[in-house]
Amino acid sequence: MSDTIQKNLNYKQFVVDSKLQYFKPHASKIEKTFAEEISSSLNRNSKFITPKFFYDKKGSDLFEKICMLPEYYPTRTEIAILKNLQIELPKHLDDSFRLVELGSGASVKTRLILDIFTTLQNSIEYVPIDISEILAESSEQLLKDYDNLHITGIIDTYEGGLEFLENYDDKKNLILFLGSSFGNFSPNDGKNFLQKINSTMKLGDLFLIGLDLVKDKRILESAYDDSQGVTAQFNLNVLSRINDELGANFDLNNFSHYSTYNEEYQRIEMYLKSLSSQSVVVSKSNLLLNLEKNELIHTEHSYKFNLSQVRNLLESTGFKIHHIWLDDKKYFSLTLASKN
Ligand code: TRP
Repeated sequence: MSDTIQKNLNYKQFVVDSKLQYFKPHASKIEKTFAEEISSSLNRNSKFITPKFFYDKKGSDLFEKICMLPEYYPTRTEIAILKNLQIELPKHLDDSFRLVELGSGASVKTRLILDIFTTLQNSIEYVPIDISEILAESSEQLLKDYDNLHITGIIDTYEGGLEFLENYDDKKNLILFLGSSFGNFSPNDGKNFLQKINSTMKLGDLFLIGLDLVKDKRILESAYDDSQGVTAQFNLNVLSRINDELGANFDLNNFSHYSTYNEEYQRIEMYLKSLSSQSVVVSKSNLLLNLEKNELIHTEHSYKFNLSQVRNLLESTGFKIHHIWLDDKKYFSLTLASKN
């Protein structure tokens, strides 16, 4: 048996029907539990909560609401750029590509790219990679709307999923990484991540990444602190999740959402601020947490880039840039690149 097939034996294949299948690792890599992660991230001087915990059902719903807020320009702007790509992107593609997406989207954005594929191919293959199992749900709707579509979901980390694909076959991939999710990595982790993506790519593969750009501080700050308070709810929701799942007693009225743009580091910094001196018990983490008045718990960074940084980032991690597309106001960028 070849080494390649051997490697993917670590995944179990689930065939739902002729149009939908997915792969999932037999045993997920040994990971710290939610309780353990919270225990170590809150039991220190500079406290933080890892942003991946935002996205329970309620959090994911709130995030969808954020994407539709008037102040949150990134989603709307990226969609506008994608709409303009209906003519431009096909010039870079042919009928031999499949669409791979980091994060599963049954969203408008995925559909805009699928529409492009529809004009080029009789049969389209879409491979969403997502750690959460919402994959199945979102796939169903896509299959209803595109009758020449075949979906192979990979339920794994982005890195794991891309390695799986590398060992799967030789078909060309267009890999999407949208929404400026890259901006939520620290610069160091981000570079490593891009290098990793690059190392799993073949020479003809393409990578399309959406990155948010530096702009007026007021526009940035209101995008992350909207007037309806949805972003605040989203940030605070992680505390209710800890209450529910880890037996904690955070009083949400004693915390507020705080976000600010740090010009030096070119990033939005998001925190939960303790409004009084208080103690909180997180029973499943064996933690008694003492917070001072105004103490901050860090939850998320969202880095913003300028165009030369976008170029630099991709070129220094092994990519060759084919094109960078922007919107009229130069708020957001979409970069198409291949392995150099
Ligand atoms: N990737 C999104 C961004 O950086 C994530 C995000 C948007 C976010 N709004 C948020 C994360 C509010 C935490 C809180 O734009």
